[in-house]
Amino acid sequence: MPERGQVFYVAAWNPPEDFFRGLPGPKAVFALGAGIDRFLGRDDLPADVPLIRLTDAGMARQMAEYVLAGVLRFQRCLDLYEFQQFSGIWRPQPARSAEETRVTVLGLGQIGGVVAATLAGLGYAVSGWSRSAAAVPGVDCRFGNEALEPLLGETDVLVNILPSTASTRGLLNRARLGRLPPGAGIINAGRGDQLDLDALVELLDAGRLRGALLDVFPEEPLPGGSRLWRHPKIRLTPHVAAETLPAPAVGQIVENMRRLEAGEPVSGLVDRRRGY
Ligand code: GLV
Repeated sequence: MPERGQVFYVAAWNPPEDFFRGLPGPKAVFALGAGIDRFLGRDDLPADVPLIRLTDAGMARQMAEYVLAGVLRFQRCLDLYEFQQFSGIWRPQPARSAEETRVTVLGLGQIGGVVAATLAGLGYAVSGWSRSAAAVPGVDCRFGNEALEPLLGETDVLVNILPSTASTRGLLNRARLGRLPPGAGIINAGRGDQLDLDALVELLDAGRLRGALLDVFPEEPLPGGSRLWRHPKIRLTPHVAAETLPAPAVGQIVENMRRLEAGEPVSGLVDRRRGY
């Protein structure tokens, strides 16, 4: 363990409170993930220390796989066949092609862009939404707050991959969820503070929404008493949609350290005011 005074770089994921206090000005802090919500809004990390997150590092492909699994669950009716199986019902559901399945991806950054392009490449009717303009081949890209609500009304599967920022917290509130067409499904692999879970459960129980695949929660681990665990229309996973893979993550951090030492621009430098 080096003396704290000899620490020039820190790589961390969930640093405890006061972790950075007394470190005499590290040259940079690396987040071991794409999201940096655990590094903002804390008073032990000076705002002039560069904060650098992972960009893709193997996460985009994992996220595309996870989202595809969720989209297929709804498109190929695997959720309905699960219910039917446990009731002993043999009943084919009407077929729906990928082209007839409208998927909306919220967040078109390094991860969301790959997710949207992958689904579009498989023939899904993909729209994407982001805060500022983005372009993804084969994807109908919209941006800005006014564009979101009309888009929700044209969505069969809503996929959230947004980072947690002041403008995305609480984004998927009751009113916006209510804009989704009856029978829509939801995949949340962004952050747990963006989706109103009470509204989600109400809409599922009322039969308005079809189901949800959730990977992120306001409190993690999800408390044992949460009603989400056993909700028949919810499937949940323990924040694993896109995990940090050691080899590409370390490679990216080492390359960024080299660039910092050489005075070159790094990838993944966080704009603290923007929040990612
Ligand atoms: C995971 O949630 C990440 O931000 O990398």
